[in-house]
Amino acid sequence: MYKEICAKYAPNKDNLIYILHDIQDTHPQHYVSSEAVHEISEYLTLPENHIYGVLTFYSMYSTTPRGKNIIRLCESPPCYIKGSYNILRKLKTLLGVGVGETTKDGNFTLELCACLGVCGNAPVMMINDDVYGDLSEEKVEDIIDKIRGRN
Ligand code: FES
Repeated sequence: MYKEICAKYAPNKDNLIYILHDIQDTHPQHYVSSEAVHEISEYLTLPENHIYGVLTFYSMYSTTPRGKNIIRLCESPPCYIKGSYNILRKLKTLLGVGVGETTKDGNFTLELCACLGVCGNAPVMMINDDVYGDLSEEKVEDIIDKIRGRN
């Protein structure tokens, strides 16, 4: 699987982040495994340490398995001032996990992130590719219930 994904891109180190994105998005547990890093290293003739450096530099990448739905709550100052800490507390209660953890059913992973670029709607979170703004504790509960109902 990893070889096929790599082959979609020219074997040029400038394509590293695209390959990492593609591999992470394709994996059902939304992460880049050590096997994937090994394949990329061979394909791009880049040392694995270099690839791990990129993986750990950007918060959107994970080297550990994650849930089906990745919640990324913005913790930058504009969202914090608008009460993101209350949203975080609510998410922890609803999901029964802490930051960086995945629910036992593998449905949700809770993460924090820097500004998502929509500060006018603070507090803000993303779940997978969807952005949710102007969050309140009630709104968060509705969103999580709807996603649970879909799965
Ligand atoms: S500070 Fe939260 S979206 Fe910008």
